[in-house]
Amino acid sequence: LIRNTIKDILKCKQSDATVNATGWVKTLQVHKNVTFIKVNDGSSLSSLQVIIPPELNNNEITFGSSVSVEGKMIESPGQGQDYELLAEKISVCGTCNPEEFPFQSRNKIPVEYVRDYLHLRPRTNFFSSLLRLRNATTNAIHKYFQENDFLFIHTPILTSNDCEGGGEVFSVEPHNKDLIPELSDSEEENKTPKLFFRNPANLTVSGQLHLEIITGAISRCYNFGPTFRADMSVDRTHLAEFYMVEAEMAFTKSLEDVLEVIESLVKFTIRELQNTCDDDLQFYYKYVAPKDQQKTVQTALDKAFTRIPYTDAVKILEKKNKKFEFKIRWGEDLKREHERYLVKYNNDIPVFVTDFPAAIKPFYARDNDDTQTVSSVDLLVPEVGELVGGTMREERYDVLKNKLQQHELLENLNWYLDLRKFGSVPHGGFGLGFERMLQFILGINNIRDTIPFPRSSKHCKL
Ligand code: 4AD
Ligand code: MG
Repeated sequence: LIRNTIKDILKCKQSDATVNATGWVKTLQVHKNVTFIKVNDGSSLSSLQVIIPPELNNNEITFGSSVSVEGKMIESPGQGQDYELLAEKISVCGTCNPEEFPFQSRNKIPVEYVRDYLHLRPRTNFFSSLLRLRNATTNAIHKYFQENDFLFIHTPILTSNDCEGGGEVFSVEPHNKDLIPELSDSEEENKTPKLFFRNPANLTVSGQLHLEIITGAISRCYNFGPTFRADMSVDRTHLAEFYMVEAEMAFTKSLEDVLEVIESLVKFTIRELQNTCDDDLQFYYKYVAPKDQQKTVQTALDKAFTRIPYTDAVKILEKKNKKFEFKIRWGEDLKREHERYLVKYNNDIPVFVTDFPAAIKPFYARDNDDTQTVSSVDLLVPEVGELVGGTMREERYDVLKNKLQQHELLENLNWYLDLRKFGSVPHGGFGLGFERMLQFILGINNIRDTIPFPRSSKHCKL
């Protein structure tokens, strides 16, 4: 007797094979002489049809209950499956009163309603599908980097820096200060307030500076981990805790080297999902995404991404300005409406906007020769807007020193300047928002439906 996942059992094309299937009851049809249930254990989108003869049926087998079924596979006379499981033994592991269970069988449930039940959400088809797609996307991203000679680095979650300089950091200290011991040999340290760390510590907003350290020895590296921002914008593309994929490359010739990696990473990931998780992908295109999502994603796969310098992007937006309520002047950052318009204008082909004004990018961005703009990029995709942000990093000691001084960061980031003193190299990198990538590929309207446990302003349940 083998206990297999439903996914494995569904591959069985052999009558009389004995199997033990476990899972939750997804549908239940009671007829006079027989009961049909569909059982799913989360291993695949499809469920296993189980036939329960009347003598085995009992009223504990309900929608939502968890069951263990032993029996034999038989050819199915009905539609929808080639084989089904004829139960010989069935036990209910955990009962479920369908009247109390917040989700009802077969009904299409609004995502906002489901979000109120984060602890039961994985039981819905659309969310278990999301979890498999999230897993497959994670694998695809690692595969891309591993096949392209990038080393995976665990950058820290606790850090003393605010890489983006946006002041959106969460600070960290123990709740119970009494636990911090007095250090009798140092009066300085015993002064109040008592701190666990000697310096203020934050949750990371980006692992970039750490990756820059590594790239100064291991030329190509990446991370993929949780990232935290006290972002006050409660909208459909921001989370307070999200996953960022960041890559850093040394000995780059120009920003174009960075763009090529971004573009090939995005395309590789889409292709991998199509190859490894197509049934879940199709489920999203059929039931969740807007009508043309699959076409939009295919366009991103088939067409070369467009490069538009920021200055030209502003000109395009100025032309539109007459009727457009979101005016923009050179020097201002793009808003989501501008980003969306630029992609629409470009026939839904993703757009690299490059060379932003220096004043709206962080201290580390490399100056262009005009000194007004920096060698930087945002990748814009349909509906979502910014998916990736990257720059060439300022590798020249004197220029960086000046910038750090201007931003009053020299004291804190002396070590960062040091990297430019000992074998500095031209280098660049980028950060890709993992949940925004899922939003784009799957056509998910709200970012909170791309992550198992969403955190955003006012929301940190569970
Ligand atoms: O553009 P950002 O702020 O760039 C950086 O942090 C760089 N240090 C990355 C690097 O060069 N290593 O963030 C990168 C991406 C954004 O383009 C966006 O997709 C995502 O991270 N992102 C968020 N995703 C969800 N919720 C938020 N609050 C996000 N903030 C940024
Ligand atoms: Mg950005």
